[in-house]
Amino acid sequence: MSNYKEMVKKILGKSENPPLCYLHSFGCQQNVSDGEKILGIFSEIGCGITSDINSADIIIYNTCAVRENAENRVYGMIGELKHMKEQKPDLIIGICGCMAQEEKNVSKIRSTYKQVDLVFGTHALSEIPRLLYEVLTSHKFVSDISEYGVSSSEIRAVRSSGFKASVPIMYGCDNFCSYCIVPYVRGREKSREPNDVLDEVRELAENGYKEIMLLGQNVNSYGKNLENYINFSELLRKINEIDGDFRIRFMSPHPKDCTSELIDTILECDKVCKHLHLPLQSGSNEILRKMNRRYNVEKYMEIVNYVRSKVPDFSLSTDIIVGFPNETYEDFLKTKEIVQKVKYDNIYSFIYSKRTGTRAAEIEDSTSDEDKSRWMTELLQTQREISTEHYKRFVGRTLDVLFDSESRHDGMLSGKSDEFIIVEAPCADKKLIGQRRKVKITKAFNWALSGEIV
Ligand code: SAH
Ligand code: SF4
Ligand code: F3S
Repeated sequence: MSNYKEMVKKILGKSENPPLCYLHSFGCQQNVSDGEKILGIFSEIGCGITSDINSADIIIYNTCAVRENAENRVYGMIGELKHMKEQKPDLIIGICGCMAQEEKNVSKIRSTYKQVDLVFGTHALSEIPRLLYEVLTSHKFVSDISEYGVSSSEIRAVRSSGFKASVPIMYGCDNFCSYCIVPYVRGREKSREPNDVLDEVRELAENGYKEIMLLGQNVNSYGKNLENYINFSELLRKINEIDGDFRIRFMSPHPKDCTSELIDTILECDKVCKHLHLPLQSGSNEILRKMNRRYNVEKYMEIVNYVRSKVPDFSLSTDIIVGFPNETYEDFLKTKEIVQKVKYDNIYSFIYSKRTGTRAAEIEDSTSDEDKSRWMTELLQTQREISTEHYKRFVGRTLDVLFDSESRHDGMLSGKSDEFIIVEAPCADKKLIGQRRKVKITKAFNWALSGEIV
């Protein structure tokens, strides 16, 4: 890649000011993390970075394909760039990420969205200098969605935050849940070498980062392909031993690989946040089987009961899909029953979206869209009642909060507690953004907590 890096640098260096690159990442944190690496590459080849799309010379949309509405939104946004390209013919427009990894999307962009110059897939990050060189010299549409299998460990990210950092510990997914496009657009599961992960965390800790988020589509199957196998719990313990005032999160574990060893590790490691995001998807065993999730409700509840036997109100959150093909109201009620039983602090619920290429997309679906929407409303109402009640347990307690922004409410700062709950506190000193403070909780709402900094 270095040869092309130098050649592109030379071309771009001819203009008076360095060209400015604007990048927007959609979708999950894995994609956001890739976006930071893409910016790292653009910065290495001599580009500046801007958050103002109107002043950009290069616009990159790093896309998500997980649900149809995510895709439609991106197509809408690419459409809007047509006008900009007419006004500024030298503008370079690139589309990458998970949508770009699908052949059908590359063809559609190529034939319908002529304003786009460059499309590259999720495996081609290290190819960016060559691709950009081709765009700059040929002025033709360039695309590359090959699977390079090159690790992107060596790419230095331009991080958007100075206090929260994501560290991918694995790439891809082998699970093939029947509804999900991710394994097709991200390829097979591959764990990073533990020493690479530890070095990255060490450097972040030395640079004062306060929160490290370990990323992967199935973090707790970490290690499978490693020469010197270590499992996810062992990795967590090693990271926990690194010096520094930081806390550790991870996203997402899979219930089928969730062991009591992992729960014990979370509870024993002082830097690991006391929160577990445990995607349920459905509370019906029949639907879980059709989803190819490889656990049942009984196994799921075993994990919940184990953690709650140690810490009775341990914080849990989850993902739920409403309206899988041919789901019945009875199936849905089983999901609702688990939600009521577990009492999650947060649920992220989605109406099933058909993804061409996945196994579930082949199923003839007789459940109506109206039913799915109605059940979704019912689920959200149930969760609202639960969080209203359940958040009250924090009133009077002192939580560890990392402030990350100014609140919408005047004179307040907003952050996240260890338990992954939004906490607001009155504070005029914006310098506390990026810092951890103890907050004594005085009020609970159904979406957040508020209190006083101790
Ligand atoms: N690897 C993660 C999930 C990544 S996708 C995990 O297994 O937890 C994030 C969430 O999007 C999933 O948990 C699921 O709830 C939702 N999702 C994925 N595909 C979907 C689809 N086709 N329709 C609706 N929701 C979907
Ligand atoms: Fe998709 Fe399942 Fe893999 Fe998560 S574990 S990314 S839901 S296939
Ligand atoms: Fe979306 Fe790709 Fe993540 S499909 S959810 S951005 S892995």
